[in-house]
Amino acid sequence: MVVPYKEEQDTSKKEQVAKMFDNISHRYDFLNHFLSLGIDILWRKKAIGLLKKENPKKILDIATGTGDFAVEALALNPDKVIGVDISAGMLAHGREKIQRKGLQDKIELRLGDSEKLPFEDNSFDAVIVSFGVRNFENLEKGLSDMNRVLRPGGTCVVLEFSKPRGFVFKTLYNFYFKAILPVIGAVFSKDQSAYTYLPESVQAFPDGDDFLEIYRRVGFSQTRAIPLTFGISSIYIGKK
Ligand SMILES: C[S@@+](CC[C@H](N)C(=O)[O-])C[C@H]1O[C@@H](n2cnc3c(N)ncnc32)[C@H](O)[C@@H]1O
Repeated sequence: MVVPYKEEQDTSKKEQVAKMFDNISHRYDFLNHFLSLGIDILWRKKAIGLLKKENPKKILDIATGTGDFAVEALALNPDKVIGVDISAGMLAHGREKIQRKGLQDKIELRLGDSEKLPFEDNSFDAVIVSFGVRNFENLEKGLSDMNRVLRPGGTCVVLEFSKPRGFVFKTLYNFYFKAILPVIGAVFSKDQSAYTYLPESVQAFPDGDDFLEIYRRVGFSQTRAIPLTFGISSIYIGKK
């Protein structure tokens, strides 16, 4: 299992991931947009746009972090978006942002684990997650609990890094992702491991068809993958 702090052998991936995001939370938004040249914003917009026709009124944003995907989901004009995350530090920065934007009536952020969601079965019209599932300790358990809280007929949208396929682009991208990004990330976030864990966790993540297979196994149907920007990221849609 790929973990952020390999030397800490007595702590679980979940504890390490929460600690890592607590550590980098003060720089998370800046580094996200800087390291992706702002493309992450377009990916979130595209993913949320796919839910437009469904008009979901109650949305759950899993691994909400500082709340960017939850904020983007307001474009769907829902009654409520609830965001959950295991990192108190990320949530604190998210709450500040939501207050600043005056969105506290629409978005509520809660400490919570995707593998054990504190919600009743069938309680959301849509469940969304951006750049979260790769960090789960148990991917299948997390996805299955997301399926449990989604109402029948509801849609799940997962946005996650994937591995680009074309040889030339893949070579350039891997150089940036594995050699340059970890150095910039370490300088700005002051966490030596977080931006080394990022490419390692993407490498180990079951993307494309492998992800769709797990998605179906936990109960989603009408599944499809939409690769974005040469396959650097992908959107995975599934229905309950
Ligand atoms: C890369 S950030 C993504 C944040 C946000 N969704 C975004 O698009 O910017 C990943 C987040 O997943 C959270 N996370 C990891 N495992 C989790 C779990 N089991 N349950 C809830 N959140 C989790 C981390 O704490 C972190 O805030």
